[in-house]
Amino acid sequence: MKLSFIGFGNMAGAMAQGLIEFDCLPAQNIYASAAHFDKLEKKADTLGIHACQTNLEAAAAGDVVILAVKPYMMETVTQGIRSALVNKTVVCIAAGFTDRKLRPLLPDDCESLCVMPNTPIRVGQGILVWETGSTLSADMEAKLAELFGPIALIVPVDSEHMDIAGAIAGCSPAFAAMFIEA
Ligand SMILES: NC(=O)c1ccc[n+]([C@@H]2O[C@H](COP(=O)([O-])OP(=O)(O)OC[C@H]3O[C@@H](n4cnc5c(N)ncnc54)[C@H](OP(=O)(O)O)[C@@H]3O)[C@@H](O)[C@H]2O)c1
Repeated sequence: MKLSFIGFGNMAGAMAQGLIEFDCLPAQNIYASAAHFDKLEKKADTLGIHACQTNLEAAAAGDVVILAVKPYMMETVTQGIRSALVNKTVVCIAAGFTDRKLRPLLPDDCESLCVMPNTPIRVGQGILVWETGSTLSADMEAKLAELFGPIALIVPVDSEHMDIAGAIAGCSPAFAAMFIEA
């Protein structure tokens, strides 16, 4: 499986690092794009993944495309890569997104899933809040669960509760860090 990250900031970097360090996916199967290529290239070199010059190049490279830009950028970014998403699997990690909000941004001929990860995925201790009732095929659902299972506890959640589950999973590590620091 080839995996592409569109946007390679804190969360995407943590996911890639976890996947590589826990031997879930070889680094050479991972592609990424971001706003600033120089910064991306340094990060990519450290991990051994491919840095792509454009979002389109990254989207074209992956079988599974992970949308990892800030929520407010999702519409613009998906517009630019829409053609490359046909027949792909798209995974959106943006806060506040459910399938209902994501689907209008994607071509009809692609399957998609909304999840909310958290940064402990980097050390194999993540939570992956996983929206149920997505358009994923059973086969791809099993493949993604196998991919992320070793580094995150997968928690299926219905669309209605995605926001609250995502907020708890996403913010808890920061609160725990504050308690530890205190
Ligand atoms: N951080 C968390 O704990 C967490 C948890 C769950 C979900 N999420 C979700 O993950 C997503 C990313 O969050 P983050 O914390 O990783 O943010 P971040 O560190 O600010 O990363 C954002 C990334 O998007 C890139 N970017 C900006 N404009 C772009 C464009 N036009 N095309 C391609 N890439 C672009 C940035 O590139 P440059 O670095 O070059 O500017 C950066 O790599 C958000 O939707 C957030 O809701 C985050």
